[in-house]
Parts: sequence; C-alpha cells; structure tokens
Amino acid sequence: MKKVAIIGTGYVGLATAAILSNTDIKVYTVDIDEDKIDIIKEGRSYFFETGLDEFVKKGVESGNLVPTTEYEEAIRESDVVFSCVGTPDKADGSSDLKYIYQVAEEVAKQCANSDKEEIIFVQKSTVPVGTGEKLVEFMKDVNSELKVNYVSNPEFLREGAAVFDTLNIDRLVIGSDNSESAEKVKGIFRKVFDLAQELDHSEYSEYANAYHDKLEALNEADFDDKVFVMDIKSAELVKVTANAFLALKISFANSIAKLSDKAGSNISEVMDGVGADPRIGRSFLYAGLGWGGGCFPKDVSGLIATANEHGVDLPIMDAAVLENAEMVGFVADKVVDLTPEHGKVAVLGLSFKPGTSDVRKSPAIRLANRLIDEGFEVVAYDPQAMEEAEEFLSDVVVLKDDIDSALDGVDAVVIATDWNVFKGYDWDKGKGLMSGDVVVDGRNCLDSERVRGAGLRYVGVGQ
Ligand code: UGA
Repeated sequence: MKKVAIIGTGYVGLATAAILSNTDIKVYTVDIDEDKIDIIKEGRSYFFETGLDEFVKKGVESGNLVPTTEYEEAIRESDVVFSCVGTPDKADGSSDLKYIYQVAEEVAKQCANSDKEEIIFVQKSTVPVGTGEKLVEFMKDVNSELKVNYVSNPEFLREGAAVFDTLNIDRLVIGSDNSESAEKVKGIFRKVFDLAQELDHSEYSEYANAYHDKLEALNEADFDDKVFVMDIKSAELVKVTANAFLALKISFANSIAKLSDKAGSNISEVMDGVGADPRIGRSFLYAGLGWGGGCFPKDVSGLIATANEHGVDLPIMDAAVLENAEMVGFVADKVVDLTPEHGKVAVLGLSFKPGTSDVRKSPAIRLANRLIDEGFEVVAYDPQAMEEAEEFLSDVVVLKDDIDSALDGVDAVVIATDWNVFKGYDWDKGKGLMSGDVVVDGRNCLDSERVRGAGLRYVGVGQ
C-alpha cells in the first residue's frame, strides 16, 4: 500500500490528505498543533469547509487517514512527503518561510533517524521562485546522506470550494528535475481524478462555480492533458503569477466600475459583454469591495517583493494593490452620501468571500471598521464568520444573530460578502424592519429590481 505524509492541516493540507485517504493511499496528516489533530481524530475538520468533514470521517474510519503530531512514524513510513504549511507575509510584504524551513529540517532529520536515503519532497505551499533550490541545499546541510527529490506542485484550490477543487483537477503542475519523481506525483493525483469520476460533485459545489467558468466540464478532459511537467523554478512562478493575474483582473474590473459609476453604465452588463470574449472570460471580473483572504494579498505583495529582489519593478501589480485598497473607501463613501445624517447601518457579511469563515484581510471587516470611523453605529451579521471576525472588528460593532435582527431599525444596509442567504433574502420583509431605505450592494450580488420593488433605494458598485 502506498503511504504518504502530508505536513500541515490547513485548507490545502487537510483537503488533500482527506481526499487522498479516500483512495487506496494511506495518509499521515501531520500538524504540530495537538488541538487540531485531536479534532481531526474525531473524524471532522477544525474549520468550516463544504464537504470536508465527510472525507475526513471516511478516511479516519477506514484507518487510511492517520492524524498525528509525530513526524517520526509519518516520515519513516512514507516515501513521499507533501509540505502544506503556511507562508504568511512579513511587514515588508515578502513571504515568511520559517514554517517551510522547519518542515524541511524535520523531514531531513527524521529521514536520518529512520536510515532513509531518499525522499520525494513535494512542495504544495506557495513559495517565492527559487525557494526549492535553496531548500534542497538546506536539507543536504541537515542530512548529507539524504537524496532529496524535490517537486514543486503548486495548489490552486479555493477556500469554500476546497473539496470541489481538489476533486476537479483543472491542471496539475509538476516542477521537477527528476522524471521518476514527477511520474510518482502524477500517479498519486491520477487516483484523485479516478475517485472524482465516481462522485456526485454537486454536493460540494454550493460556491464552487462562483466566479468560475464551465467548471462542470473539467472532468471530461483527459487526465494527461491536464498535467504540466516543467522545471522547478517555472512551477514556482506559475502559482503566484496565476493569483496575481486573478487579482489584477478584479482590480481592473473595479477601476472600470468607478468609471461606470460616473458614466451611468452598468458594470455587470459591461463585463458580461467583455467576458463573453473567450480570450478574456467572465470570471474574476465581478466588481465590488475587492479581494482579500489568505492568498491574494500575500501572494501579490510576495511577487512584488521577489521581483524587487531581482531588480525588477512590477508597477502593474502596485496599481492593482492601490486600486484594491481604495474599494472599501469607495463603498463607504456611498453609504455616507446616501445617509448624510449617518445613524445606524447593518453590515451583512464579514468573511472575505462566501462559503468560508475565514476573515483574513477581509474587505468586509475593513468596511465595518471604516463606517465606525465615519461616525455610524454599526451592527453586523455573517452566517459563518462571526466568531473569527470578533477580534478584528472595532469593539463597538454589535454582532447580531441573523439578518432580520441586523436590519431591525437601521437606516442603511450594506452587503459586504456575497453569501447566498443575502441574495435570497426577502427584501419586502427587510423594508418593514428597517427604519431607513438605503441598500448598498458592495458585491453587486442582489437582484436590484427585487430590492427596488420592495420600496428600497438600491445602489451597487458601478451600476
Ligand atoms: C485564490 C485562488 O482563486 C485559488 O486558485 C488559489 O489556490 C488560492 O487563492 C490560494 O492561493 O490558495 P481564494 O483566496 O480561496 O483562492 O479566493 P477566491 O475565490 O480567489 O477569491 C479571492 C477574493 O477575490 C475574494 O475576496 C473574492 O470576494 C474576490 N473576488 C473574486 C472579487 O472581488 N471579484 C471576483 O470577480 C472574484
């Protein structure tokens, strides 16, 4: 039986581990945090992610998923190790690689302890280009007897769609200078592809198709056509470049939304027309409060920092960051303009996007705090992220239990995250609860006609 170790139990590590353990691979899922491992041992995830619990449960019950805080057994038993730990950003925008090096050191040491002479070390964490080369040298320093077959295998899954994206492989990028290792990694993901053919994906897809074109067709393509084998440095650059381009697309849409706002056009209709060109595509051209989360902000600043280290300026990405930073103020100004007497405003949504409880760099949180600074009384509600949001929100923001209680007596409401429950809300009822009539749709996700039909004043971003 094939055995692999997956280090790190975040969105990438746990989704990969849980799904691989539902094939015939035995997976050691390793984390230094005992609390997290204890929860996974109970057969569930310690964070909210659509469909993940089911795979964790099946994996643990079958014995194929082994949650552990011990590197020793995991490395001894496995000939492939996946590194899936975080690479947070430092104050200067560059990536903090301390966890990456800790994992590399531990793996090299444990290989020495178990007299292992060779290991396939697969880097799934997002790292700056050139990291692989340095890590191989570093691991050799720790354990000179070890042959490290380093593989860069960037991960493209989205939070909120982690299960769906892991099963629906759109492309498999393998950066390696050793064809045998590349083939082994490919073989592992072939099993995921085969597993995916047997499952009903609609179960995990509540948010999977948001901002994504034609995902349903993915499994019709041939597996081999999805595999891109290249050198390590190229694979490393694929990942951050992909995220940077998506962030750029959103910021571009937001720039045009500002013009659309002034010119009286409708940005959603503009982008429907623009995105119908297959060279452009409709996805990631949805204007609104802007991009946040644990990936885009740090990957964009990381790319700029890496480019600068190489003496290259990336003014196009500097502009995307600037544009993104301005969107919260742009939306807040709309609330201020429509509610000149200020008063009470409800912020609906706190997570950085729907389908997740993650509030890292969430524009919604910045908006709530900004409205406090503007002198509003702010109440807020999110279907999943209230607990995680609390520590980042100004103390005076009052959290409410549901949409109705959030709207009770407010002068204005602003949609900050495009959760389906907000889209489907009964705005006639909302009108009855609110004391004012202002609805600012910071995600352009509501049906404006329905909102207006309820007697409310609807304003979007660029429409
Ligand atoms: C992103 C990428 O989409 C994944 O491919 C990648 O693997 C992941 O980063 C990562 O590096 O780990 P994620 O951060 O989960 O995934 O979120 P996205 O769905 O990409 O959304 C990012 C932000 O952009 C959200 O705040 C979302 O609201 C915003 N967005 C997205 C828009 O404002 N407009 C759009 O049209 C699309």
